[in-house]
Amino acid sequence: MTTHALLLLPGDGIGIETIAEVERLIAFFNARSNKGKFTVERDVVGGTAYDAHGVAITDAAMAKAQKADAVMFGAVGGPKWDKVPYEHRPEAGLLRLRKDLDLFANLRPAICYPALADASSLKRELVEGLDIMIVRELTGGVYFGEPKEIVTLENGERRAVDTQLYTSREIERIAKVAFDLARKRGNKVHSAEKRNVMKTGVLWNQVVTEVHKSYAPDVKLEHILADNCAMQLIRNPKQFDVIVTDNLFGDVLSDEAAMMTGSLGMLPSASLGAPDAKTGKRKALYEPVHGSAPDIAGKGLANPIATIASFGMALRYSCDMGAEADLIDKAISSVLDKGLRTGDIMQPGMTQVGTTQMGRAIEAALKALTA
Ligand code: IPM
Ligand code: MG
Repeated sequence: MTTHALLLLPGDGIGIETIAEVERLIAFFNARSNKGKFTVERDVVGGTAYDAHGVAITDAAMAKAQKADAVMFGAVGGPKWDKVPYEHRPEAGLLRLRKDLDLFANLRPAICYPALADASSLKRELVEGLDIMIVRELTGGVYFGEPKEIVTLENGERRAVDTQLYTSREIERIAKVAFDLARKRGNKVHSAEKRNVMKTGVLWNQVVTEVHKSYAPDVKLEHILADNCAMQLIRNPKQFDVIVTDNLFGDVLSDEAAMMTGSLGMLPSASLGAPDAKTGKRKALYEPVHGSAPDIAGKGLANPIATIASFGMALRYSCDMGAEADLIDKAISSVLDKGLRTGDIMQPGMTQVGTTQMGRAIEAALKALTA
């Protein structure tokens, strides 16, 4: 039997509550699964790490992350840490994990569960059956480009610089991920950039076109300007299958896509590195797309579904447990069909539940599905 080493990094705010529901499912699978067992390590990240150690993530936690088969990440940030030095802000912990583990491929599926079609801010007919995969480049672009600074000029004015920077190799490897995924789905890729104003957009467009020609001529490719992509997502989201885009556009477009599924509380994500040359294993981190939600943190109100669905992605992409991942998706669906809702997806006539009740209900549904 295979053992999968998990590192749990709940972080701040509701991350702590939603990761606790993942622990419930880990215990469930450890008690029954004949496919694999999980070992669990824990550590702190974000503001919680800053309070304990003065940094957003320690070297020791990074070493655990390097060794783990998968990192389960909750969320980071909150007003409590608004004043900490920029390099120690909670988000720096997440960015270091992404960069040091070289997790360049961020997969953000936006799926609309039928039971939630009316919770979307768009009309039911626009989102029912929606199934988009946003492939966001995660270790380059304006998030990491240097220089990145605020300087005071001689005349006393201040000037801020961020640097948007991409190499052809970075674009090539993310494009391949998108084409590979498209082949297993609707066989269509939209590549979003701003070639009309940005040199990185021009290069992005060229490299994606080259990769398409040499690597994936069988997949349908369309280039789209990122602003038009944002508009088309609202106008007719079901035209999309896979969207591949840079770090910043991917950040924005994935929040937009998330809302179509009913709530930001529904969207999971996987961040993957390149397969190891010897073992074929990828470094991986799984996290909900939502943040730490300080306004509802500690109240047991958070929706754990995005974090639980992220665990499902870990089973699929890191543990070779696709059947178990399907079970998690089915369990989520069945709980929603029964009318259970956390506050963020609450609708008239449904039953409002808290974080723990939702987690327990999903576990019970899993039990029923595997009985
Ligand atoms: C996300 C988040 C992060 C990002 C923050 C927390 C640094 O918004 O994962 O989308 O901007 O990448
Ligand atoms: Mg974001």
